[in-house]
Amino acid sequence: MKTVTTARELSALRASWPDDVGFVPTMGGLHEGHLALVAKARVSHRVVVVSIYVNPLQFGPNEDFGAYPRTQEADAARLAKAGVDAVFLPTDEEIYPRGRAAQTQVWIPGLSDDLCGQSRPGHFQGVATVVARLFGLVRPQAGYFGKKDYQQWRIIERMVADLGLPLAVVGVDTMREADGLAKSTRNQYLTAAERARAPGLYEVLIKGAQLAASGEPPGDVEKGCVERLRALRFVPDYVAIRRARDLAPPSDEDDQWVILGAARLGVTRLIDNWEFSRIRHHDDGTLHQAAKAG
Ligand code: PAJ
Repeated sequence: MKTVTTARELSALRASWPDDVGFVPTMGGLHEGHLALVAKARVSHRVVVVSIYVNPLQFGPNEDFGAYPRTQEADAARLAKAGVDAVFLPTDEEIYPRGRAAQTQVWIPGLSDDLCGQSRPGHFQGVATVVARLFGLVRPQAGYFGKKDYQQWRIIERMVADLGLPLAVVGVDTMREADGLAKSTRNQYLTAAERARAPGLYEVLIKGAQLAASGEPPGDVEKGCVERLRALRFVPDYVAIRRARDLAPPSDEDDQWVILGAARLGVTRLIDNWEFSRIRHHDDGTLHQAAKAG
C-alpha cells in the first residue's frame, strides 16, 4: 500500500494507474462500516484509494473537530490488510492551498440546508466542497458512500449529476453492531450507560417505518417517533419521512421511502435511517406490494 500526503505525489501515482479507480473518502477513526465501503470498491475496481482527512470546513464552531479520533497508524494497518492500493493523507495546505476562506465552495440548494443541514449550518457545504476537491485530485471512476449518512450520500449524488462529474456514486448499506446501533466513529463518545440505550434510535426508526409502510400518515409517525425518543431520554433533533431517491417530501405516487432521525444522547449526536417500501392497496382493498424494509 502506498501512502501519499501531497496532491503532487497523488497525481504522479494516478498517472501510473488504469482508469479503473474506486475511491473511499473518510475522516479516519476507521471501523467495519468504512471497511465495508473498501470491500465493495475492492471487488469492483483494479485500484482502490482511501483518503483520510478530518475536514475542518464541515465542522461547526461548537462541534467536535478537536476531539475527533485521529488514529492514523491503526487506520493504515487496517487499510493495508483490506487490500487498499493507496491511502491519501493530505494536510490542510494540500486540500485548501489558498486557505479555507478563499476556497471555492459547493452548495446544493435545498438538500444542503434540510434535515441535518438545519442544525448543522454549513456542514454539507463543507462536505460537498471537500469531496469535490478530492474527486478532482483522485479522478476516480466511482466514489463509495455509506447509507448511514443518507443525506450526505444523496447530496454527493446530486452534486455529481449537477456538475456533470465523470464518475459513479455508489451507496453502501449501513453496518450495524449486533444490537442494531449503526457503527460510527462517534460511538466512542458514548458512556457505557448511553451505549446501552443507543440502539433506541434504530428501534424507534424501524417501528416508525413499519407504521408508515402500513399507511399511517408520515406526519403522525414523525411526531410519534420524536415522543418515543424523548421517552427514551434522547434529545431528538428531527425524525423525517422522505422520498428515498431525493429526500423530497413523500407523496402517494412514491413507493420507496426513507425514515431519517437525529438525536443527542449526552454529548453525542447520533443519526440513523431506514429505507422501506410503502404497502399499497388496490382500489378493491387487496394488497399491492408487501412492505420491504431494508
Ligand atoms: P466518515 O464519517 O469517516 O465516513 C466515511 C464514509 O464511511 C462515509 O461515506 C460514511 O457514510 C461511511 N460510513 C460510516 N459509518 C458507516 C456504517 N456504519 N456503515 C456503512 N458506511 C458507513 O462521512 C465522512 O467521513 C465525511 O463527511 C467525508 C465524506 C469523508 C467528507 O469529509
